[in-house]
Amino acid sequence: MANTKLTFSNENQIINIKNATESLQLSILTDSIIRVFENHKKATNSYAIEGNKFKPTDYSVEQNGNHLEITTTNLKLKVYKNLMLDVYDANDQPLIMDYRGTRQPIDKHIDEAHKKIVRAEGHEVSAVNSAEDSYYEIVKTLADDEQFYGLGDKTGYLNKRGYEYDNWNMDEPRPHIETFTHLYKSIPALFGLKNGHPYGMFFDNTYRSHFDLGKENQGYYFYSAVDGNIDYYVLGGKTLKDVISNYTYLTGTTPLPQRWMLGYQQSRWGYSMSQAKVEEIVDKFEEYDLPLEAVHFDIDYMDGYRVFTWDKNKYKNPKKLLSDLRKRGVRVIPILDPGVKQDDNYNIYQEGVKNGYFAKGTDGSIYINRVWPGKSAFPDFGNPDVRQWWAKHCKFLLDNGAAGIWTDMNEPATFDGDMPEDVVMTDEDKPSSLKRMNNVYGHNMAKATFEGIKNETGKRPYVITRAAYSGTQKYSTIWTGDNQSIWSHLQMMIPQMSNLGLSGFSFAGTDIGGFSADTTPELLTRWIEGAIFSPLLRNHCVLQVRDQEPWVFGDKVLNIYRKFLRLRYHFIPYLYDCFSLEAKNGLPVFRPLVLNYPGDPKVRNLNDEYMVGNQVLVAPIVQQGQTNRSVYLPEGSWIDLFTGVQYTGNTNILANAQLDQLPVFIKTGSILPWGKAVNHLEDAPADEMTFRLFGARGSYVHYQDNGEDFKYQDGEYNLYNIKVSDNGHCCIELTKHGYKPIYRTIHVEANGKNLLFTYDDTTKTYVTK
Ligand code: GLC
Repeated sequence: MANTKLTFSNENQIINIKNATESLQLSILTDSIIRVFENHKKATNSYAIEGNKFKPTDYSVEQNGNHLEITTTNLKLKVYKNLMLDVYDANDQPLIMDYRGTRQPIDKHIDEAHKKIVRAEGHEVSAVNSAEDSYYEIVKTLADDEQFYGLGDKTGYLNKRGYEYDNWNMDEPRPHIETFTHLYKSIPALFGLKNGHPYGMFFDNTYRSHFDLGKENQGYYFYSAVDGNIDYYVLGGKTLKDVISNYTYLTGTTPLPQRWMLGYQQSRWGYSMSQAKVEEIVDKFEEYDLPLEAVHFDIDYMDGYRVFTWDKNKYKNPKKLLSDLRKRGVRVIPILDPGVKQDDNYNIYQEGVKNGYFAKGTDGSIYINRVWPGKSAFPDFGNPDVRQWWAKHCKFLLDNGAAGIWTDMNEPATFDGDMPEDVVMTDEDKPSSLKRMNNVYGHNMAKATFEGIKNETGKRPYVITRAAYSGTQKYSTIWTGDNQSIWSHLQMMIPQMSNLGLSGFSFAGTDIGGFSADTTPELLTRWIEGAIFSPLLRNHCVLQVRDQEPWVFGDKVLNIYRKFLRLRYHFIPYLYDCFSLEAKNGLPVFRPLVLNYPGDPKVRNLNDEYMVGNQVLVAPIVQQGQTNRSVYLPEGSWIDLFTGVQYTGNTNILANAQLDQLPVFIKTGSILPWGKAVNHLEDAPADEMTFRLFGARGSYVHYQDNGEDFKYQDGEYNLYNIKVSDNGHCCIELTKHGYKPIYRTIHVEANGKNLLFTYDDTTKTYVTK
């Protein structure tokens, strides 16, 4: 095949290339995004990418010696006669190079007889992943200096090099450890730094797939899949930030949340077993003077775990309860699972049966498996009619006063063995099976729920989902599922949240305190500290473990917990600003240092620090018993948030961190909005704001809108420019006035002074006295 001739056509940014036996299609979507497609006659619709992503782009296609060369401003692709493909950046630096050798699966030195013996003691014997196991594989060369990021919620460390992962959504109640190859989400988006040069690849195939990132061999990495077309996107960009922005351009950014969603939320499996318990929790938050925006209602509020019902024995009047709680500043987020109880007298089951809305076995009968309600049927969410039906029923919860919906168990999880891959489902307008639809089951459920809430309320929907696929970030916040109250899970929060952020999931969080197992006072304290900048801030745990509300371990823990919740509320306007930027550029709020400093090799494997936007660096304590730690500060100058001490970066410092201390550093020259530490965000005055300068001079752009609906998309928002110059002069400008209410007073805390500005309606400027 190597000597056959290449022929090609080039029309409308699509280049079809052929040799004697194979063909490849390259689509130039933008100067930094090229789709690589090899048709295997499988479904071509994408769940991750919506709408036309082509932008008019200048490019050239030239026959150049032994290869075809396709060049845009940011990328150069060379296609050889055997259809091997190499990708370079604009400076001819190699980024993604097809591997020319053959794979050499790891020899595990074990025969079938010994495998049995090893298994007999209960050990897992992993399958050898040989080329024959996969339907296709894409093997790329690996440089000595190459790191990998992304892949969503996978366990382990920030840099994914040296590990293997699977893309197959599943429920995983066992303690999540670094040898697990998959959890609840499939986000086949891989980002790399090859010799310091950034690139990305997004493999848009929902079938079960596998990444080996230099585990099998130091010389190559590969992606393989059990079915589907070869369909991946090469992502370029001058910086790692550009590459991430290109990925989120393709799959969508996380929309701006409502402001209250950034506040503190409390949850527990079991609270909603009685109205009295829920009220007791809310009472305690008031008694202990703690912020609280929402309580999540787990499965217990339902009638026999039937979705879209409310147990009237436990709740006399759910609507009244929710409205009373709302008057106290607290919202309720009830859970929904996909499993619909098999019960002929239950309207949701009846409707699903009548309309053919449930997944089926190969014999055409409704597929039944057991989940919380017992025997259950599973909505066929790949069918748009089913999504509409589900969306319509969300009204039931909204009418009762729900402020959002939590969608769970949507891998889909089942109790009587895994759902077989041949279960019949719909892929939009075509018959399909779980084999293709498993990884987008949660995505479609979250999307349906989002539409239901949006249509009914017109507000920015609050959906929280466990299962997801690339692109789900457009519809839902996520949490990392059933973690445990163990230190290694607090440690994992940082790389996991960082990689989720790089994979488009900016609105994410962990179960604070840990879901399963008994937390300890120290672990809970360090968790709330470490997670205090986590976009989703929710304490949640399972039934039957020891309580983990802020007050259960006495005054010491309670006071620290409260102190950090207050800190969170000071930072909410900053987090909201970060989201307003993220909604446009797709760069995560919670991010690893490598995103901001990709040129610094010291941050490429940094697992225990993170940044919030560009200005805030957080170095939590994630080890039991530790009261100080080494903190790496990258280039520039940094100011300790609490002591005001300034450090020159590019160095490690030893930070003191007694139980009540969290090392936080602000980049010198930052101006940050400083919100009011209220117990419900709606209590913060809407017409005033404070800004704090860190250092002697700086500037900042602050965003303001109504915090609730979509009017900002039509320009109903304000932008403020705050600037402190070298001579200490401070100036505030309203550079965009699209949202009517503005801050009447603005305080600026700078250089030891507190400056007060008021808005002068005649000159339409901010003036100081
Ligand atoms: C699953 C969820 C967990 C929830 C439980 C009961 O385990 O991950 O958050 O509490 O189901 O609904």
